[in-house]
Formats: sequence, structure tokens, C-alpha cells
Amino acid sequence: MDERIAICPGSFDPITKGHLDIIKRASAMFDKVIVVAMNNADKKFFFTEEQRVSMMERSVKEAKLKNVQVDSYNGLLADYMRENNAVAIVKGLRAVSDFEYEFQMALLNKKLYPKAETVFLTTSQENLYLSSSMVKSIASANGDFSEFVPACIYNDIKNRFEKKGCSL
Ligand code: PNS
Repeated sequence: MDERIAICPGSFDPITKGHLDIIKRASAMFDKVIVVAMNNADKKFFFTEEQRVSMMERSVKEAKLKNVQVDSYNGLLADYMRENNAVAIVKGLRAVSDFEYEFQMALLNKKLYPKAETVFLTTSQENLYLSSSMVKSIASANGDFSEFVPACIYNDIKNRFEKKGCSL
């Protein structure tokens, strides 16, 4: 039987413990998981593609997730899935407010690539309020965000904010 490959797509600007929780749970459900930093042309990122991918790679390594790979892509998620023979998109849902957008995306991806099944995992309770934006807000105000991100990337984020003239 073919390897069952799932994709965890996102901006990962930066990756958080909330993302990692979803990635971990996806890795227990599928043979292989590819975590992909999507580079939407219409989105302004705080970290470069190289920085986001490096933080993702180190976080996955730190979590000792053997069947998880990291990648980045410019283009449509549906095309990435087709190119990689993936069967599922795994996303975390935090609140009802996430649902409308995610539901729309799931239908669109299925239209563009009919094999694309979207699997929604309920966020763990402790990550209910956690997002990359929240991490950046705390870091920009010089607060302690250590419990929200993998330990190995804490300094990457701190250093990015300490750079002179850096703003969100
Ligand atoms: O972490 P995010 O910002 O919620 O992730 C959103 C993301 C990157 C998963 C989504 O914007 C995406 O899939 N972008 C790739 C481009 C695409 O396929 N768009 C759908 C058709 S418009």
C-alpha cells in the first residue's frame, strides 16, 4: 500500500508549540507528515523564508519526530499536494472564529485537487489562545514568551526583535 502522506501547511511566522502539538498528533496518524511554510505572495512575513524553515527544522528535530519533514513552497497548496502525492491536509482549529475561513479553504483545496481531504484537529486546551501573532506581540513588548515556543527557537525570535529599528 502507498505511504499515506499528510501536509501541515501554514505561515509558521514563527512556529509555535500550538503548531508543534498539531504536527505531533498528525505524525501519529499518517506514515509521513510534511510541514510546509507557504510563501503567499499577498502576505507580509516578519521572518524570512530561510528563518522560518530553519526554526521549523530545529523544532521538529527537538521534538524527535522521525516521520516529519520540513519544506517551503511558492504556489497553491493543491499543486504541492499533487506533486507530493499527499492524501490529507491537517490543520488545527482553535475556535469557531477559525472555522469559516478554514472550511472555505478545505472546499477550495478539494475543488482544485479532489484527492485533498482536510482533517481538522481540535487544539489542545492549553493552546486555545496561542498564535504566532500573540508570540510576536509579547516579544515586541519585551515580555516572556518562552512557554509558547520550542526552546531551541526562543533566541531566534528574541534576537529578531532586538535588532535596531525592527518593528512588527
Ligand atoms: O498559518 P496560516 O497563515 O493560517 O496558513 C494559511 C495557509 C498558508 C495554509 C494558506 O494561506 C495557504 O494554503 N496558502 C497557499 C496558497 C493557496 O493554496 N491558497 C488557496 C487558494 S486561494
